[in-house]
Amino acid sequence: MVTLGQVGLGYWGPNLLRNFNGLAQARVKVCCDLDEAALRRVGSLYPNMATTTDYDALLADTEVEAVIVTSPTPTHYPLAKAALLSGRHVFVEKPIALAVAEAEELVALAEERGRVLMVGHLLMYHPAVTRLKQMVESGELGEVYYLYTSRLNLGQVRRNENAMWSLAPHDISVALYLLGEKPEAVAAQGLTYLQPGIPDTVFLTVRFASGHAAHIHVSWLDPHKVRRITVVGSQKMAVFDDVDSTEKLRIYDKGVQRPTYDSYGDALSLRFGDISIPRIDMREPLRLECQHFIDCIVNGQRPLSDGRNGVQVLRVLEAGQRSLEQGGAPVVLEGS
Ligand SMILES: NC(=O)c1ccc[n+]([C@@H]2O[C@H](COP(=O)([O-])OP(=O)(O)OC[C@H]3O[C@@H](n4cnc5c(N)ncnc54)[C@H](O)[C@@H]3O)[C@@H](O)[C@H]2O)c1
Repeated sequence: MVTLGQVGLGYWGPNLLRNFNGLAQARVKVCCDLDEAALRRVGSLYPNMATTTDYDALLADTEVEAVIVTSPTPTHYPLAKAALLSGRHVFVEKPIALAVAEAEELVALAEERGRVLMVGHLLMYHPAVTRLKQMVESGELGEVYYLYTSRLNLGQVRRNENAMWSLAPHDISVALYLLGEKPEAVAAQGLTYLQPGIPDTVFLTVRFASGHAAHIHVSWLDPHKVRRITVVGSQKMAVFDDVDSTEKLRIYDKGVQRPTYDSYGDALSLRFGDISIPRIDMREPLRLECQHFIDCIVNGQRPLSDGRNGVQVLRVLEAGQRSLEQGGAPVVLEGS
């Protein structure tokens, strides 16, 4: 049994609380929030769980082995750092921090102390993404040329971060996971209507040295609820539609055949094959994510979305922010 403490029980935190408490090998012993009303809400659901407004009191509980950080992004770095310094494993929501230097410090602390540091890149635990990754690795899609994603809805409009920081970490993490390459340059264009200086809609393009690319469209100002990822390979193409309740993944046996002989003009031929819908063992991604964190603690493993993965995603976000501020000019990533 792994004993947990959790900090931040606003909108998202209770979902993790429910999932961690639903695991046979975990229990959340103490919850912390600055807001007493938030504590009363979760306290009424779990009467045996302690609640506190004092984070130091949570860390002073020697039974707590790991801390779940589900507070707003600007607090991730100080709260995760304090937990790591006190010898705890840490699960921190996305994005890992606001600055790459801060995130790198968290990674170094976790590695020095042999603690698990995991970031809540939830989509990497989605069974459809797991299936897509298997298809990429087995070569079924052929060479993956590019992918594009849409994460659109009306709301939830945030005040302390723009739509890119709020929504794109999921798509960036999946793009890096599926393409398996280090990004070379990032360009982002934003549209700002609701609050000064906070783009509501962002078009982000990530380019890789190989010529592969990912295009990410996020918005909280859109009439449609869309959560879709399209992967275009040389052999097949795949569409993951997370809004579709039953047919999440469609594989299109479509492509463009190049001739083997050296000719010109109309020699490219289009191939239209079958469309298939693989059966996916659908389990709640959040439950799988929480289980993975506990497994990593128990077995001493490195999480799929570990701190280093958090840094990679943050590098893209940081570069995207600089590009947004430069009107969409591409920003080359250092060290790529
Ligand atoms: N993985 C996902 O799909 C997903 C979805 C939504 C939010 N999130 C992430 O979850 C985190 C929280 O988002 P939210 O929408 O729940 O925010 P929220 O504002 O609704 O809730 C945050 C809570 O943290 C508390 N808090 C703030 N500072 C604190 C501190 N120093 N100590 C203790 N408590 C503190 C607030 O009182 C509030 O109750 C963010 O990092 C966000 O990016 C992830």
